[in-house]
Amino acid sequence: MSHILAPSLLAADFANLQRDVELVNASAAQWFHLDVMDGVFVPNISFGMPVMEAIARHATKPLDVHLMIVDPDRYIQTFADLGADVLTVHAEACTHLHRTLGAIRSAGMKAGVALNPHTPVESIRDVAKDLDLVCLMSVNPGFGGQSFIERTYAKTRALRTLLTEEGAVEAHIEIDGGVGLGNAKALLEAGADVLVAGSSVFRASDPMRAAHDLVHL
Ligand code: DX5
Ligand code: ZN
Repeated sequence: MSHILAPSLLAADFANLQRDVELVNASAAQWFHLDVMDGVFVPNISFGMPVMEAIARHATKPLDVHLMIVDPDRYIQTFADLGADVLTVHAEACTHLHRTLGAIRSAGMKAGVALNPHTPVESIRDVAKDLDLVCLMSVNPGFGGQSFIERTYAKTRALRTLLTEEGAVEAHIEIDGGVGLGNAKALLEAGADVLVAGSSVFRASDPMRAAHDLVHL
């Protein structure tokens, strides 16, 4: 089974954003990963709608939008209009997760749920058939360049088992944070099929080569 590489533009050069978007367009990577932060759900603020609109104007590959914001329901239609293909909300930020996932799908996007490192995979069992992607945070969300939490391997295996048990065989498992050549293969073996990579692509001496290597493992 082939996997998907989603470079995170959080690690791009924001003063050369068009250049870095075009780099991903020309690379072996399949998706863009866009990290939207509100300074409330996470202790950092990244970028919002105007920047996403600018990215979408140049990107030629699917946009995987990771909302690290409280009360994400307010912006589902906005992100659909901006061209998001996958919209991921945090389980910890949603009081009515089932309703939120339904609203994302109704707006024509794939529905994703992100789980913080402390949130058990069991918390999505009852919505397993209502989602298209589960994003396991392998760092505490908010910043790029953090070190990978080793527990993620076991969590990935447990999640793949859970999704199979619930008949959610199509659901993607995405790993986000501290992913690079040192752990990518083991994550795929554990059951992941989407790898987010910020620093390991954009901070590499040759980002095109880094993307190629993370696709052709
Ligand atoms: C962290 C973000 C990640 C981040 C990953 O809150 O969700 O997508 O950009 O960056 P690296 O790959 O550098 O850990
Ligand atoms: Zn992310």
